[in-house]
Amino acid sequence: MKLLMMGPPGAGKGTQAKKIVEDYHLANISTGDMFRESYRKKESLGLLAMEFIRDGHLVSDEITIEIVRRRLFVNHVEKNFLLDGFPRTITQAEALDEMLEVEQTKLDAVIQIVVSDAVILNRMVGRRSCSICGATYHVDYKPPQKEGVCDACGGVLYQREDDKHESVRNRLDIYKEKTKPLIDYYDAQGILYEVNGEKSFDAVYRDIQTLLETHL
Ligand code: AP5
Ligand code: MG
Ligand code: ZN
Repeated sequence: MKLLMMGPPGAGKGTQAKKIVEDYHLANISTGDMFRESYRKKESLGLLAMEFIRDGHLVSDEITIEIVRRRLFVNHVEKNFLLDGFPRTITQAEALDEMLEVEQTKLDAVIQIVVSDAVILNRMVGRRSCSICGATYHVDYKPPQKEGVCDACGGVLYQREDDKHESVRNRLDIYKEKTKPLIDYYDAQGILYEVNGEKSFDAVYRDIQTLLETHL
């Protein structure tokens, strides 16, 4: 199974992705997580990427396509995966289609999580992320058992640099300009499915399960 999670920043892509990959045994490939991990390791790629990420801008297509290509198709070919946060531009989507074509395969489904701007802002300012395993929490909707500490691994929780108000606005504007056109791109391929992301965590997950079981 080859899936793609789409939706505005803070829609709940990462939250739902973590459950889907466990239940369906898929490789979880999040370009945002890859950039942040590289930054934590102080690699030149991560340091460069953070210059863009911090203010809510996109990392260049060239760099982003190359890290996905290496992760998916170099050393061994990943057969079952879920992409979260890639592609984000038409150029990236075309590059992905080409990579898949070379392997004589294609995407099975694109899941678009639909959430309004007001809900997004609220989710972003309350989000906390684990500095070790990347698990995400929310101060109101999904608080950890012990404040500031990850339930899963005991790691310290932090607020992402790009979750500040100004940066979130930038990310929303860029999403509308660069990423939203992908909805039509995948709709034209007949593989686009929308879910209402404003329901509870579990309700959104059930809707995703239902659509996967109905259509795949
Ligand atoms: P990335 O890490 O992909 O960020 P994003 O797309 O902005 O999305 P988020 O991770 O912020 O949100 P999410 O949808 O995963 O929501 P989450 O589940 O955490 O990218 C970061 C940056 O990297 C980009 O801005 C760009 O600079 C760069 N980048 C990455 N990919 C790139 C690419 N392909 N090309 C170029 N640049 C790229 O949930 C959010 C919060 O809401 C959490 O606190 C969660 O607990 C809560 N929540 C989730 N679901 C619910 C619910 N149902 N009810 C209540 N609360 C909920
Ligand atoms: Mg995410
Ligand atoms: Zn953790």
